[in-house]
Amino acid sequence: MFLPRSLCDTAAARGRTLEGHDPHASARDHRASTSATAFFDAIAGRYSRAYALDSNESRRRMARALGLLPSPPADVLDLGVGPGREIPFLLDQGYAPVGLDSSKAMLEHCARRARPIPLVQADFWQPLPFEDRSFDGVLALHGTLAHSSDAGALERLSFELARVTRPGAVWLSEVPSPAWLDSFDIDFGSSDCVIRRTGTQACEYEDRIASASIHVRIPSADDWRGALAPLWTVEIENIEPQLGAAHGIELAEAIRPAIEWRLIARRR
Ligand SMILES: C[S@@+](CC[C@H](N)C(=O)[O-])C[C@H]1O[C@@H](n2cnc3c(N)ncnc32)[C@H](O)[C@@H]1O
Repeated sequence: MFLPRSLCDTAAARGRTLEGHDPHASARDHRASTSATAFFDAIAGRYSRAYALDSNESRRRMARALGLLPSPPADVLDLGVGPGREIPFLLDQGYAPVGLDSSKAMLEHCARRARPIPLVQADFWQPLPFEDRSFDGVLALHGTLAHSSDAGALERLSFELARVTRPGAVWLSEVPSPAWLDSFDIDFGSSDCVIRRTGTQACEYEDRIASASIHVRIPSADDWRGALAPLWTVEIENIEPQLGAAHGIELAEAIRPAIEWRLIARRR
């Protein structure tokens, strides 16, 4: 999930302690954190309203993603499909998508779509429930891979995705960059969520309306490249922010470099 910064208080802005100032913060936040599945179950009802990309941004990003995927018809695995924002774009182009998600509540929303697709409930940090060479493309959009449990998880996923894809497959991810974490020194103002930094590459995100928290882990560019090689070549491009008018010009300058990346991985 790419978190809605504009809805968030930051720890700094609200006078909370940051790592280095409170030796107990990390352990306490870890205890408070629910699993990713429980978190997404808890926010599923509000996801499209409070977390999803708006329609213009969604269209803009999907145009880029569709331009990078192998040409249709092709089998595309949508990891963390959520309520299925990407599905109409894929179907309109002639792709055959399969959605995977660990959250039952998210899958229930997705199953209500006018044009249903095969949906699978599974945890993508575990072995994937697919035959070898089943897919030509993989999507993991809007920060879906931001909640890995440990450094080895990305490597294991990259092996599993190489197994279930065909030679020449493309795997696209949209992930928060380390600059996203650094941007929390800026006061965004309101109070539906709180972000507490728990390490140089990690934070806890609390949705105060759902009373649920989730751990966010933000690998560096080298971490991504290291985890995905030798099975994938990796290109990383910035996703340029599309700022709402309320954020103003100063913020546009303040949040450089890009707070989100698009990872373009091609199966060797
Ligand atoms: C931020 S949402 C993205 C939804 C949709 N792809 C989009 O772009 O709007 C992340 C989704 O990934 C799912 N997810 C997170 N961790 C997962 C895991 N380990 N296994 C399967 N699904 C997971 C969540 O339940 C959630 O639906």
